[in-house]
Amino acid sequence: MDAEVLRDLLGDVYVTLARCAEAYGGTVEKFIGDAVMAVFGVPIAHEDDAERAVRAALLMRSRLAAVAERRAVPLVLRIGVNTGLVVTGTTPGRDFLVTGEAVNLAARLQQAAEPGEVLVGERTFRAVEPLVRMVAPRSLAVRGRTGPVTAYAVERFAPAGAYRRRRRAYGPFVGREVELTLIRSVIERAVEHSRAHLVTLIGEAGIGKSRLVEEVVVELRRSEEPPAVWVGRCLPYGEGGPYAPLRDLLTRSAAVRTDASREETRARVTGHLQAVLPDGSEEQIAELLRFVGGERIEPSGDDDEPGDRGREAWRNLLLRMAERQPTLIVIEDAHWAEPALLELIASVVAGDVRVPLVVVCAARPELFVSHPGWGSGMRNETTVVLEALEAGEMRRLANALSAQAAPLPSAVDLAGGNPFFLEEILAMSGEGGGDRVPETVQGVIAARLDLLDPEDKLLLQRAAVVGRSFTLEQLEPLFDGGGRGPTGRLRNLVERDLIHHRGGGRHSFKHALIRDVAYESIPRGERARLHLRLADVLDSSADASCQAVAGHYAAAATLGETTARAPAVRVLIEAAREARAVEAHGLALRNAVLARQLSDSDRERALAAEAAGDAHWMAEHLDDARAAYLDALELGIAAELGPEDTSRLRWKWVDLPTRWQGSVITSPDRDRIEAEIETGLAEAHAAGSALTEARLLIARALLVYRLETTVPPQEAALSVADRALELAERVGRPAIVSAAIDARSVLLQSVGRYAEALEMDERRLALVRELPSREEQMDICSSVARTRTARGDYSGAVAVANLGQELGAGGDHRWLAWPERSRVDALFWWDKWDEAMSAYKTFIGELRGTDTDGRRARQSRPGRMLGVVAAIHMLRGETEEADRLERRLPASNPHFDLVYAHAMLGAGDPELALERSTGLPFMRPWARAVRAESLAMLGRWDDFDQALDELPRVSAQVDRARGIAGDEDALRRATEAFARLGCEFEHARCLEIAGDGEAARAVYARMAAAPAMERVAR
Ligand SMILES: Nc1ncnc2c1ncn2[C@@H]1O[C@H](COP(=O)(O)OP(=O)(O)OP(=O)(O)O)[C@@H](O)[C@H]1O
Ligand SMILES: [Mg+2]
Repeated sequence: MDAEVLRDLLGDVYVTLARCAEAYGGTVEKFIGDAVMAVFGVPIAHEDDAERAVRAALLMRSRLAAVAERRAVPLVLRIGVNTGLVVTGTTPGRDFLVTGEAVNLAARLQQAAEPGEVLVGERTFRAVEPLVRMVAPRSLAVRGRTGPVTAYAVERFAPAGAYRRRRRAYGPFVGREVELTLIRSVIERAVEHSRAHLVTLIGEAGIGKSRLVEEVVVELRRSEEPPAVWVGRCLPYGEGGPYAPLRDLLTRSAAVRTDASREETRARVTGHLQAVLPDGSEEQIAELLRFVGGERIEPSGDDDEPGDRGREAWRNLLLRMAERQPTLIVIEDAHWAEPALLELIASVVAGDVRVPLVVVCAARPELFVSHPGWGSGMRNETTVVLEALEAGEMRRLANALSAQAAPLPSAVDLAGGNPFFLEEILAMSGEGGGDRVPETVQGVIAARLDLLDPEDKLLLQRAAVVGRSFTLEQLEPLFDGGGRGPTGRLRNLVERDLIHHRGGGRHSFKHALIRDVAYESIPRGERARLHLRLADVLDSSADASCQAVAGHYAAAATLGETTARAPAVRVLIEAAREARAVEAHGLALRNAVLARQLSDSDRERALAAEAAGDAHWMAEHLDDARAAYLDALELGIAAELGPEDTSRLRWKWVDLPTRWQGSVITSPDRDRIEAEIETGLAEAHAAGSALTEARLLIARALLVYRLETTVPPQEAALSVADRALELAERVGRPAIVSAAIDARSVLLQSVGRYAEALEMDERRLALVRELPSREEQMDICSSVARTRTARGDYSGAVAVANLGQELGAGGDHRWLAWPERSRVDALFWWDKWDEAMSAYKTFIGELRGTDTDGRRARQSRPGRMLGVVAAIHMLRGETEEADRLERRLPASNPHFDLVYAHAMLGAGDPELALERSTGLPFMRPWARAVRAESLAMLGRWDDFDQALDELPRVSAQVDRARGIAGDEDALRRATEAFARLGCEFEHARCLEIAGDGEAARAVYARMAAAPAMERVAR
């Protein structure tokens, strides 16, 4: 190899290897010839340095393979890993030198390794043993050592990173064979068939859900190719936002240390995501990092344009993980999950994707109270309900748990089949209590707490104020003396198995019930005081989460601490906004509602109600949002808020019915909406808020569009839309510009100025990639497809449907129905019936995959789609099928009627076509064309002298109508026009009218247009 090339290659290799070491917190110590030495735990040691080194080694191996492939040269590594004491000499720069016996042995291992092997020493092996798969050990004779050294070749990490060894030995696992087998076989089947599946595991607290899942994982691990297992836990009150369980799962899979700094965490996660996600995923990575940072999230200026990009990014990540390796995701305590998380899970699984991914949600029955429809109607879902354990099993468990002493005879009866209850009873008697066993598990826990040393109990109570999990730092302000006291006491509590170490200085209660009982045992006034103190301290610290501060102020205020009330309202409203920024609409709503309850002025109440409206809006509960906004507006007026605030509130209230809910404006509201728009405009103008002014103008224009059915007012509203567009462009927000163009375009269409409307839509299309909301993007693609179809640019319409499909692809499943709808439409009018039919099938498939859980399903306009399919059946003489489809419509539907009427012409039934096309409120020119042709076919020629040249298809049809009435020139024009449009069937019909039955028939036959064929034959 050329020296230059070799140098370059080695440079590439070194950089790659150094990156791998750094990814796990290691440092490359030196390059010696073609060898690289990396150290971990120097200068700062971590408890898991051995694990990090082995992970880095495996990463090096796979990355080097990638380099080899890229450069098309054979490259292999031999890697040795060893753990031990080393001598380091740190020089003042950043260099340090590592030497010692352990280093020498590492070098020997490296030399002894086979090409491609990762060989580790005894101590390293012990540190990683439970985590990895390896081949049999072998003995090495090492120079300068008496006796052989054992070396172990690591193959890979057993992918169950979430389950580490437990501190306390469990009792034996009893019962549950059926459930265990069921869940295991569901997982195995999902893996085998590459099909996503959801398992919902339901049972009361302590019945054994988490344990069952752990046992399933243990069994799976014994298999040849165990799936990767990741666990995310939900916390009460949605602490940490909806995706916190996924965030934890991500940081764990990226091997981030629990005590890593924010920068370190971000760097590590970024590297991991780059490895997992395909190239060009920068945007998604940035999206995911938003949820990883841990810092206070600054709500974007666009807080009125909520998105669900986070949800999409998470969805993609989960699918991608499963694509790489069969994956089991466990969501623990799903009854506390944010609705956004459950929606995400449902959308991942319901999408019927072909990846080996199983999600297990372990939840108490409350899950069905907050989400009554959970899992129902999903094909790939299994619900497993855990009932009480049988008495015999409980006795077996009791005997095993109380190995030294005989178990309390009544314990098994009292525990009633709940193993957690049993454990607590036995712990209580072991701790010296138990003359009388309380009847509830809470009672038993309370008795155990009473048996504690008073200082220990106090610590446990204070920890309970912080929450389910806590750090010493958080506890400090709750102890007046401060000092170092708690550390030793914590150890006592850990020994009693009341709390667990979580690593990184974090502890948590072993069980939520223990926390609850400890908390309830604090006198009310004291609790309030402690919450307030904690809230004050957290509020002044830069990196406390706003949710936590809000939670503590709110708890203090609810418990009667009056000084906490005002800050509670302030921070709750802030926390609601922050929750929205991370797509936690459930949490946002809870914060807002609590703020509303704690408010004591109209001003506070108005702002809280607005926050509630925003949360409903984000949850797509539009009626609730509207009610909340109206509440906010009325309170805001009463509170005499400034014009900036009131104009914004007026806009929020009118925006819903005008832009999002057009069909539900009820008449009494109309005057009120108009009045609010007028007042709001004056206020926005006075407050100098061009943004609100632009938005209100859009609302005004759209209101006219929705409610007026005649041309003059629509014409007049165009100038309103113009002004809105001008202002929106001045403000420079693409989303508002897009909305203004939309208003202008729909008005232009309704006055028949299609060419200009198309121009508007194309302008909007140019913005499409800049827009924050997927919905807006899909709306644009649909509008452009619609106008292009109307203008006869069918291939252009299909192209924009393709664009929509591309934009929607990364996103929530429900968007994918939109482009299909456009495609069906374009293909039908293009006379491509078979293709239209198959696009319709895709459309229905996408629609089925969409979760409809209260979210608006505006994308499904069944009337029009059904109309197309019925029309095709009609054109093929399959009238029964067409009728059957029509019966599926809930009510008569103008979109259906129009398409259907059109087909009736083609099938040769002008009378019915005439009947169908009369009195249609929409698409007037189209209906008129159908009527014209019907009348002509019936010999009832009327004068149709409309200016229709903007719509080539309509004028072609009118020309054909004239042709039927005997105007040969018009017929020739029609024939040419349909040929130009590429509409074969319509063209053939012109030929038929012109008397060229042969030519027409050939086309009819090819298209299987039975009635038309018969007609020509006659
Ligand atoms: N089948 C079993 N055999 C033996 N012990 C069990 C069994 N099921 C559960 N346990 C023990 O009972 C205790 C409570 O179980 P677990 O934590 O799984 O309950 P859970 O249903 O997840 O409760 P929660 O709703 O509070 O999360 C644990 O210590 C667990 O080891
Ligand atoms: Mg559990």
